[in-house]
Amino acid sequence: MLSENIARREDGTLTFAGQSVAELAARYGTPLYLMDADRIRHNCRVYTETLRRHLGGNALTVYASKAADFTELCRLTHSEGLGVDVVSCGELATAVAAGVDREKIFFHGNCKLDGDIAYALDQAIGYFVVDNTEELEALERLCAQRKRVQKIFLRITPGIDPHTYEAVNTGRVDSKFGVALATGQGLDFILSALRCPHLSLEGLHCHVGSQVFDEDVYERALDIMLPLLRDIRDRTGVMLPALNLGGGYGVRYRESDREVDIAARLDGLCRHLKERCAQLGIPVPFFLLEPGRSIVADAGMTVYTVGSVKRIPGYKQYVAVQGGMADNPRYALYKARYTVLHGSKVGNEEVFSLVGSCCESDDVIEPEALLPAGTCRGDLVAVCTTGAYNYSMSSHYNRLPRPCVVMLHGGESYVAVERETLEDLLRYDR
Ligand code: LLP
Repeated sequence: MLSENIARREDGTLTFAGQSVAELAARYGTPLYLMDADRIRHNCRVYTETLRRHLGGNALTVYASKAADFTELCRLTHSEGLGVDVVSCGELATAVAAGVDREKIFFHGNCKLDGDIAYALDQAIGYFVVDNTEELEALERLCAQRKRVQKIFLRITPGIDPHTYEAVNTGRVDSKFGVALATGQGLDFILSALRCPHLSLEGLHCHVGSQVFDEDVYERALDIMLPLLRDIRDRTGVMLPALNLGGGYGVRYRESDREVDIAARLDGLCRHLKERCAQLGIPVPFFLLEPGRSIVADAGMTVYTVGSVKRIPGYKQYVAVQGGMADNPRYALYKARYTVLHGSKVGNEEVFSLVGSCCESDDVIEPEALLPAGTCRGDLVAVCTTGAYNYSMSSHYNRLPRPCVVMLHGGESYVAVERETLEDLLRYDR
């Protein structure tokens, strides 16, 4: 199977984290997001333990909550020692509600207005990751008003193309995120920050992209960011203490996708970090990584009920499920592909386009799902590896209520996010 937490019993029953998908669907309804809490913990530990082995206490893994965000998940990653990367007041409020240590909250985002900055200052979060000069000036002004000093990182665009798909490629010079080094603006940004009396510049941040498979992307990022730290020291006398390389390790959505051995990659990366620092004659900075997808993707599965099977002889055949682009817009947005499994039947597979119930032709979940020929109305189908960027990118398109999120742990299940009701949808209408 695609991932260790997916299996099939002898009678054909599909299981996820050891539990019958059909039983979970009967208990909680469909569409249903399942999240394997034990897998999330395992994924967190790949980062925390590998970094600890190489860098001791001189590192922190920060969960990029945009990948999937709800209070229980924040609690879970926090209990594994991770910090949280938030990009909005909503994500920030979730981290606060989860009781995340404020010192471990990193406030990202390329367009924080004064109100957002004020809210985050009121919450006394650890760090702002400042994206641009206007934000820098606004933050300095608001901190001066409050007579306090705020710790910050600066988001730098290193100009690396990580060969991922365009929409999630953020490290290049022309990115909307951060300030580019190649144009000279990055250095000016850093020097301006060092002149702000109410801001304490703790380090630099860069993020090269998401769903990254290339072997050496992070090493290349280090090769840009570490000499930059040295140059800043030589120019200003200030050795910035920390470096955050962002998130991005890729995950497998289909058997044909490459597998990224994250522990092995981190081994190599930490070695590279230490070697390069020694060569440059600088101390090893406090090292942060910000994974999202690789923490939660394979911990997720979405379960749907089939409503119709449509065969158009000589053309195409569809399996339609209730749900679709409202709970998983990733095919519509990125042509992202998935593995689809039947809930109870195996064998005699045919290719179906698995489509959702939204009024849109592009409401496709997976264009080439292999499902048994006998798939019919009422059957369950499961889409694997939906833990990242599914719930967090879900919408109310066609006024579909959002599915519930059910956590699985040690053979037990519990609701982490309630299923929305029709009343919920109407709540804000006046
Ligand atoms: N840090 C920063 C500053 C980021 O912008 C991101 C993702 C991450 C960390 C986490 O990256 P990850 O480890 O999850 O790759 N919606 C797209 C992905 C967008 C990623 C945006 N930034 C998708 O569904 O593929």
